[in-house]
Amino acid sequence: CHIPVICIDGPTASGKGTVAAALAAKLGYHFLDSGAMYRITALAALRAGLSITAADEAAIATLAKTLPVRFDAGKVWLGDSDVSEAIRTEEAGMNASKVSALPSVRLALVDLQHSFQRLPGLVADGRDMGTVIFPDAPLKVYLTATAARRAERRYKQLISKGISTTLEDLRADLEARDARDSSRSTAPLKPAQDALLLDNSDMTIETSVDQVLGWWQSKQ
Ligand code: C5P
Repeated sequence: CHIPVICIDGPTASGKGTVAAALAAKLGYHFLDSGAMYRITALAALRAGLSITAADEAAIATLAKTLPVRFDAGKVWLGDSDVSEAIRTEEAGMNASKVSALPSVRLALVDLQHSFQRLPGLVADGRDMGTVIFPDAPLKVYLTATAARRAERRYKQLISKGISTTLEDLRADLEARDARDSSRSTAPLKPAQDALLLDNSDMTIETSVDQVLGWWQSKQ
């Protein structure tokens, strides 16, 4: 049977997660936060005493295949441990980026990502949703914004959570993460050939969501 998928890919802090979640809520679709899977894998690897390097690639891939992960009412669980907060730090993002550059770890997470494609449909958020995981998706969006704007948004998010940081540090972090994500050999960050580009530097979340919804409706 045919289960529709909308892919939202793009660089760090481009608003993908917020736009994808809002879209899923409006359409009553499932939501896949694929970045969370890499964040959880990195955390699980570190908790298991592994290093996030090629030396431990096989062990991390084994761990990723049977990751006891649960997404439940906005919370993320790794076994019995609520990791919702722990996976959202900048450090966790950087570790996720390192773990996600290991090809066998990416491969190990494919089935888990595919399992989110359930009726009535799916909105999938990540870096390679449209290029690798759901290449036949009828709508692929590449959501981006300038580095300055993305750093600003991430800054506001962290400050509102009481996490102290500086705009300069954040911008350096996200540029380092994007550079690694774009230059890796397996599933690098790039727009799918048939992706529609949306630069939301000067848009509100609502406007971005409406734009994507409009594209989706025009395909029905
Ligand atoms: O989207 P988020 O910031 O949570 O992703 C964390 C990291 O996981 C990204 O920097 C990227 O390296 C990796 N990732 C990936 N492929 C995806 C989603 C995330 O490589 N589909």
